[in-house]
Amino acid sequence: MPHRAPGSPGQGPARYLHGKQIRYYRPTGSADVRQLIDGGFQAFNAGRLSEACHIFADKMLAPDNDTTIGLTVAGALTPAGLGGCVIELMDRGLIDFMISTGANLYHDLHYALNFSLHRGSPFLDDVELYEQGIIRIYDVLFPATVLLETDSYIRDFLVRSKLSGPMSTSEFHYHLGRDLLAKNPACVDYSVVAKAAECGVPIYTSSPGDSSIGMNIAYHELMNGGTLMIDPNRDVNEVCAIILAGHQNGCVILGGGSPKNFYLQGQPTLWEVYGIPKGGNDYFIQITTDQVVWGGLSGATPAEAVSWGKVNPGVLPDTVVAYCDSTIAFPLFCEYAVGSTHNRRARRELVHKRDALVADLLKQARSAKGTKDTKEQITKEPAEVDRHR
Ligand SMILES: NC(=O)c1ccc[n+]([C@@H]2O[C@H](COP(=O)([O-])OP(=O)(O)OC[C@H]3O[C@@H](n4cnc5c(N)ncnc54)[C@H](O)[C@@H]3O)[C@@H](O)[C@H]2O)c1
Repeated sequence: MPHRAPGSPGQGPARYLHGKQIRYYRPTGSADVRQLIDGGFQAFNAGRLSEACHIFADKMLAPDNDTTIGLTVAGALTPAGLGGCVIELMDRGLIDFMISTGANLYHDLHYALNFSLHRGSPFLDDVELYEQGIIRIYDVLFPATVLLETDSYIRDFLVRSKLSGPMSTSEFHYHLGRDLLAKNPACVDYSVVAKAAECGVPIYTSSPGDSSIGMNIAYHELMNGGTLMIDPNRDVNEVCAIILAGHQNGCVILGGGSPKNFYLQGQPTLWEVYGIPKGGNDYFIQITTDQVVWGGLSGATPAEAVSWGKVNPGVLPDTVVAYCDSTIAFPLFCEYAVGSTHNRRARRELVHKRDALVADLLKQARSAKGTKDTKEQITKEPAEVDRHR
């Protein structure tokens, strides 16, 4: 096999790209779907999904419970068109922050930039696809030029924005989203990254080097001498500070992977590292294909998370795992939420409050540890003022 970029001049990829364009589906609160979930989804994983819908709609969204809600996203969900569900939840204030693989954010940029992904088949000859310059994610097909042009946009953004120094992924994604909005305001309706910037929803990536966004940031450092440095410590502290500030905390976990733990580790970071006993997560919903029997974190149950102080032992009835494909279960879940009584909440706009929240974490941690401010600590203390307002 020759070493070269996929696709050759003169080869026509068109015959693989005749499938319908994949577009982001926006849930509308269908009464029929609610009836199906309430009346038809009674047992096994249909029953678990029904439970998940009720925990979310009746408890997590209930105004009296004042729940800070994190969504974690793994698996190739934006390529499959699920970004519209996330956009709808953000628009309605139904999620407050998000932790995603870099891949889901990178592939979201294709939609933002008006590139096309197409419905196809999982049963194709991949060597031929390679020769034709077609990329396949199971049954999602798109030309390799979509990757190259998206990469080119990211690199151009890095140069134009002059972002420099250490920053959290939430700050980086916020600037990226603002740039997309400035370039094409209409993309607010078909880009998760752009919508999050508009709604003030911080987006974190638990493994920032592990996607084409991270690959292009690395390029920028090596080739342009860029000094932008994604600082995972800031991400850890910001997520921890958001959870600390939550009156109640709850999560919706799609798939497993590192986003799941990055959310759940917030509680142990508080009690184990900072000495602040927050008491564990109040609500836990996971939709996954991962199994518990292999011992991995992705399939670990809410009960196991209790032993780590990740989930409050008193709330196990408010936890559920639905063993389903997210591409089926999540749109149904969102239809249910959008059609529910508490289907709109005031947005918390946490992306603009990160510095103040981290300052509060620092204050409480110092008080918990009984430490005195050292000169070094004072100089490193984050500004209490909001940098982004
Ligand atoms: N070009 C890119 O930027 C690119 C592309 C793909 C992956 N990646 C990177 O590779 C890494 C792995 O990606 P990943 O974490 O999405 O891996 P993954 O697809 O293996 O999924 C992660 C987790 O989600 C579960 N899962 C996957 N699909 C599911 C579905 N349909 N329904 C329910 N659960 C499902 C899996 O069982 C697993 O626990 C990530 O860090 C990602 O950023 C980068």
